[in-house]
Amino acid sequence: MRIAIIPGDGIGKDVTAEAVKVIEAVGDVYGQRFELEHLPYGADHFLETGISMPPGGHALLAKEFDAIFVGALGDPRVPDMRHARDILLGMRFELDLYVNHRPVRLLDAKLCPLKDRGPADIDFVVFRENTEGLYVNIGGRFKAGTPDEIAIQEEINTYKGVERIIRHAFEYAAAHGLTRVCMADKSNALTQGHALWQRVFGEVAASYPGIEPTHLYIDALAMQMVKNPAQFQVIVTNNMFGDIVTDLGAQLQGGLGMAASGNLHPGKTSMFEPVHGSAPKYAGKNVANPIGAILSAALMLEYLGCTREAAAVEAAVTEAVQTGNGPAEIGGALGTRETGDFIVRTLRTRM
Ligand code: IPM
Ligand code: MN
Repeated sequence: MRIAIIPGDGIGKDVTAEAVKVIEAVGDVYGQRFELEHLPYGADHFLETGISMPPGGHALLAKEFDAIFVGALGDPRVPDMRHARDILLGMRFELDLYVNHRPVRLLDAKLCPLKDRGPADIDFVVFRENTEGLYVNIGGRFKAGTPDEIAIQEEINTYKGVERIIRHAFEYAAAHGLTRVCMADKSNALTQGHALWQRVFGEVAASYPGIEPTHLYIDALAMQMVKNPAQFQVIVTNNMFGDIVTDLGAQLQGGLGMAASGNLHPGKTSMFEPVHGSAPKYAGKNVANPIGAILSAALMLEYLGCTREAAAVEAAVTEAVQTGNGPAEIGGALGTRETGDFIVRTLRTRM
């Protein structure tokens, strides 16, 4: 299996090094051949060459690799984040990665900011539509910079786009023995675009009689995620709302450093990245939490069909978290590298 590794910027490089160690260890332990190819895309490369992603670069990634792993993108020397948008959002759009898969799983009660909540209460997955909505960047500014400025940003909802993400959520629930799918929109205020979500959710739900469809307006979803997260198994929502509630979800599981994600087009080359950003001020200091990156690697292994390997990585991460063998963010005293080492050692000894 060929995997493109794009460490990117800031702590993206630090955490990717640990994810790579874990992928290599798992390959060793289970006799899998992972060919990892490092690619330089990121701020340094952009500032040196003026190229964020070469023409045809995305198509080439899809052709040459089975999966893509990204650390993080963002650098203060590129204030408009142009390279990050080109690379990250470019990948989502060009490779049509319409599913943003973001698990919200608490590994240890001590990491949860909610009172009296444990791992049994916080274990669900958010499917965020990843190719349309407000992120299509259609709109314009008229009389920009004047007191009369008009700024328009359109939200696009297509039948195809809404249908495939909702169906993915139901398919996932069915395949994992789950019994509820909650769709969140704002159809009480956005009565045009989100009426489509209502209609399609009803249509798709009808073909999954064993799964209970539930609905919450997005504001109520945010409230319920804090008030009673145990009610959720699978949540499906649009691009913008999914962006917001998955940061909330990340905090429920101990912070952005713990959160994994996959940007998927089932059956095609997909991309995996921790949810956190590049945190430039912590870069290279051996303090970043590599767990989100390592769990993203596990998600990638699962997607590539290496289910045992993925489960082994998750078990090793859980052990690290529960025994406090990690960075300050999980209440431990280890650096980025030592956390990776602990997880690799645990993987090897558990075999
Ligand atoms: C994320 C990030 C991105 C997004 C940014 C960096 C454009 O916040 O992956 O959640 O909004 O999708
Ligand atoms: Mn986000």
